[in-house]
Amino acid sequence: MQDKISKIRNLISNNNLNAVLISSVPNIIYLTGFSNFSKDEREAFLLIVAQPQGLTHKTPGVLGYILTDGRYSEEVRKQVKDFELIEISSELSLEKALKNLAKKHNLKKLGFEGNSISFLEHKKLSKYFNNIYHLSISKLRSVKTPDEISKIEKACELGDKTFKYILKKIKEGVNEKEIAFEIEFFIKKQGADISFRPIVAFGKNSSVPHHFPTNNQLTNNQIVLLDFGVKLDNYCSDMTRTVFFGKATNEQRKMYETVLAAQSRAIDLLNSLFMIHDSIPAKNIDQAARDYIISQGYKTIPHSLGHGIGLEVHESPHLSPLSKDILRENMVFSIEPGIYIPGVGGVRIEDLVVLEKNGLRLLTSSPKELIEV
Ligand code: GLY
Ligand code: MN
Repeated sequence: MQDKISKIRNLISNNNLNAVLISSVPNIIYLTGFSNFSKDEREAFLLIVAQPQGLTHKTPGVLGYILTDGRYSEEVRKQVKDFELIEISSELSLEKALKNLAKKHNLKKLGFEGNSISFLEHKKLSKYFNNIYHLSISKLRSVKTPDEISKIEKACELGDKTFKYILKKIKEGVNEKEIAFEIEFFIKKQGADISFRPIVAFGKNSSVPHHFPTNNQLTNNQIVLLDFGVKLDNYCSDMTRTVFFGKATNEQRKMYETVLAAQSRAIDLLNSLFMIHDSIPAKNIDQAARDYIISQGYKTIPHSLGHGIGLEVHESPHLSPLSKDILRENMVFSIEPGIYIPGVGGVRIEDLVVLEKNGLRLLTSSPKELIEV
């Protein structure tokens, strides 16, 4: 935890700030380990000030403040030892608490998370602090600790188990919603959660990368695209497999082989570059897979080649044509090329990888040879 906080304190001093206000739930989990706050409502903030010496805490080693209300204070008091709790109530509004803290620590320049604060919250913050600046805290999460990598690995293992299970459920007449439900049910029965709503697409529906499952029933010779993820111990997995119900047509087979080769090219390029350099522009890897797909006569991939993953399904680094992100050791991300042809269907293959000293290690281990169910 101290390491993570020092990353924040460096950010504070590099930007010449007095403090930073953390508002996004994944970043609150990252810094406190407390994961009960809702992502849909504003239920807590962390305030981390530049100089810990200025704090007058009763607890030694206090890192900052956690502001929340009576729905969570009992649990927070028990579980979050490093932050001093400020309980928001009818006697102490959030505005008043922030105003008090600004006065107490003479906070004038505040960093905040522009991508998680609303317009109205921004207006209020501007009242209590002279200057406020947007900072990206989430980027600090892109290099993972060994503990985070092992949590993602466990989520991937359950993802692989789910894929094996779901293959047995692919039968004539089953519909997309039923398969999506079976995926969710299986994952939840193992005590985990889904990291996002599963994507299940049959036949022509698979040409929509984020197809919403329907009552569409499976018939012979159709593509079955399955994209789902597990959330275990707050950490996410994400995988996609495309299988064929009945016999794959020549066109389907060519699409599949092209996507698989595009993924291999991206992996091989990353491995060979990483032998020479310790930092690789993410957009170069995206380009290798994208160019290969285009060279085979298909349209470009209508999404990025991959994305970082951890407490959120999509986080830094982003492997896309305009990305400025750099790939480094201990980053975990997806590699997920796809070909989508409206009226025909789509193929996507997605694995998670971790970039380690000796190169990429695949975290997804489900088979990738063409499967005909
Ligand atoms: N697997 C879903 C996505 O990455 O958007
Ligand atoms: Mn993905």
